[in-house]
Amino acid sequence: MAHESVCRRFDVPAAILHGGGCRRQIAALVRELGGTRVLIVTDPGVVQLGVAGEIVELLTQAGLSAAVFDAVQPDPTDTNVVAGVAALEAHRADAIVAVGGGSPMDTAKVIAIRPANPQPLPEFMGLHKIAHAGLPLIAVPTTAGTGSEATKVAVITDTARQVKMMMLSSPLLPRAAVVDYELTLSMPRDLTAAVGVDTLTHGIEAYVSRRANALSDPLALQCIALCAQHLRTAWSEPGNHIAREGMMLAATLGGMAFSNSSVALVHGMSRPIGAVFHVPHGLSNAVLLPTVTRFSIKAALHRYATIARTIGCAGNAATEHAACDSLIAWLDELNAALAIPRLSQCRGVTSEIFEKSIERMSADALASGSPANNPRLASASEIIALYREAW
Ligand SMILES: NC(=O)c1ccc[n+]([C@@H]2O[C@H](COP(=O)([O-])OP(=O)(O)OC[C@H]3O[C@@H](n4cnc5c(N)ncnc54)[C@H](O)[C@@H]3O)[C@@H](O)[C@H]2O)c1
Ligand SMILES: [Fe+2]
Repeated sequence: MAHESVCRRFDVPAAILHGGGCRRQIAALVRELGGTRVLIVTDPGVVQLGVAGEIVELLTQAGLSAAVFDAVQPDPTDTNVVAGVAALEAHRADAIVAVGGGSPMDTAKVIAIRPANPQPLPEFMGLHKIAHAGLPLIAVPTTAGTGSEATKVAVITDTARQVKMMMLSSPLLPRAAVVDYELTLSMPRDLTAAVGVDTLTHGIEAYVSRRANALSDPLALQCIALCAQHLRTAWSEPGNHIAREGMMLAATLGGMAFSNSSVALVHGMSRPIGAVFHVPHGLSNAVLLPTVTRFSIKAALHRYATIARTIGCAGNAATEHAACDSLIAWLDELNAALAIPRLSQCRGVTSEIFEKSIERMSADALASGSPANNPRLASASEIIALYREAW
């Protein structure tokens, strides 16, 4: 029988440490990568939690020189990158440790590749636009989360155009990830909910994407299974170590999955909401996930039914249609259980700006390329209708 042969590439960090307390191995990892002068890239919230200070201490105790750049803002911008590169040069750093959620990790990724890739930042938007490897980067996530510690993706806002630039290139991949769930125990409920649904969305979109493949599929399904098992508990019992570890592993697995498959329509539509209203990334995904799934489901019944069975909201005996119906109901219930608001109720969102921006949001969603990976393709007017349905 004829069999079409396709060459695919799978990238993950060369080393992933995981388990409670594994952050204490960071200095050894820096040395292994040849680093002596480290720039820690983080944000003010993570500094306040004492995590950045703990890592400075771990590094200096091991005889390494450490400086902290903490001026990363949520949904990081090109100006954050410029300031970070200045800090890198000032410290003459030869390695970077990113500590925080997706915002510090994404910023650190772009800071790390800047010295070897000095072109204007917008040239990196899209797929495989960054040619040269950067400084060694170790990513230490404190949210569970974006999975950025395991992805070749960075999302940086172009402040002049108010566009969230999605960059996907292998040189952005951290050399190592340190996945220590203890760092997520401090997350408040709203953050746990938003970043947790972001993780679930990574698993679902990676699995239904047109770019899904044999190596991303098992990672995506395991991400989804862990979210189903642990997200509600992590939200209702923030100190539950088992649930926190489950969500932390789900985040890293989700990152590995979508980075080697893709995200799709939810993420494509979510980024313009973030750019216009500054709604946190996880929350803008969460408000869209049930609506966009309802729209997409008929184009990939088998895959969505498998997701429902993996979650456990449909049994093996259920038909694919019945399993898909259960999945939609489960996603709606999850949003309700995690107190996820409607789009119209998110802080900073007004109907006036929504109406003024909706056409452009739809165009920007399509331009990002992510909707082209969705099992059901959406036109500009269908995307507008979906935004209204999520309103
Ligand atoms: N690169 C990727 O693969 C990828 C994937 C998805 C999202 N993203 C990007 O990641 C960014 C969002 O990242 P995020 O959702 O992790 O949030 P974030 O990094 O923006 O952090 C949000 C807030 O949470 C605080 N925080 C972080 N850890 C905490 C903890 N343990 N306890 C209490 N507070 C804590 C931070 O100080 C900050 O104020 C967006 O810009 C998004 O576009 C990137
Ligand atoms: Fe995401």
